[in-house]
Amino acid sequence: MTQDELKQLVAEAALKHVVPDAVVGVGSGSTVNFFIDALARMKNRIAGAVAASEASAARLRKHGIEVLELNNVDDLPVYIDGADEITEHLAMIKGGGGALTREKIIAAVARRFVCICDASKLVPVLGKFPLPVEVIPMARSYVGRELRRLGADPEWRQDFRTDNGNLIIDCHGLTILDPVQREGELNNIAGVVTNGLFARRPADLLLLGAPAGVRSIAARGV
Ligand code: A5P
Repeated sequence: MTQDELKQLVAEAALKHVVPDAVVGVGSGSTVNFFIDALARMKNRIAGAVAASEASAARLRKHGIEVLELNNVDDLPVYIDGADEITEHLAMIKGGGGALTREKIIAAVARRFVCICDASKLVPVLGKFPLPVEVIPMARSYVGRELRRLGADPEWRQDFRTDNGNLIIDCHGLTILDPVQREGELNNIAGVVTNGLFARRPADLLLLGAPAGVRSIAARGV
């Protein structure tokens, strides 16, 4: 099976976790694009969606799915999103597409986070994928120096602005053994909007697409 076929497989599997008559949280990225296309088939059974990126919002609207503003949504039973890396403890690196801040906000609001990935995303330790950090433009150089001081090799993502008008610095060379602590440490740098570690609020369920089928890995106690 190709990687796209595995993404399609988990996207379809995620439909079972969409709560009827409720608003669904939708992340961003290529796996989520498959999910949005699948979601279109049940658009009359949901109350609309909130989207983590302008690109996802546009794709949802193209399918005739109403996109709501998060501030107008009181209850979000489930959020479906991909990841760039994920561990068996369901901590993730996200933000390869630069949508990490809105993704983290929606993940915080949602009662349940279902992560959909092909098997290549499951790793024993986070950090091989460069960790994205969203930065207020005037703080770019300062944040870069601080990231270096914390052991990263920072690289400014060229010709890129987030949906929030900010910059992304990708941190290479990190081996993230304690993602919860690292997430807080990076967020404490002045000028950082957020970083792509999702460990304080990990996923609740991982649907992992492999040639043998979809494997479900639930967070402990879920
Ligand atoms: C977007 O900013 C990311 O967090 C995506 O969720 C992540 O990059 C996964 O994307 P793919 O599904 O395209 O691999």
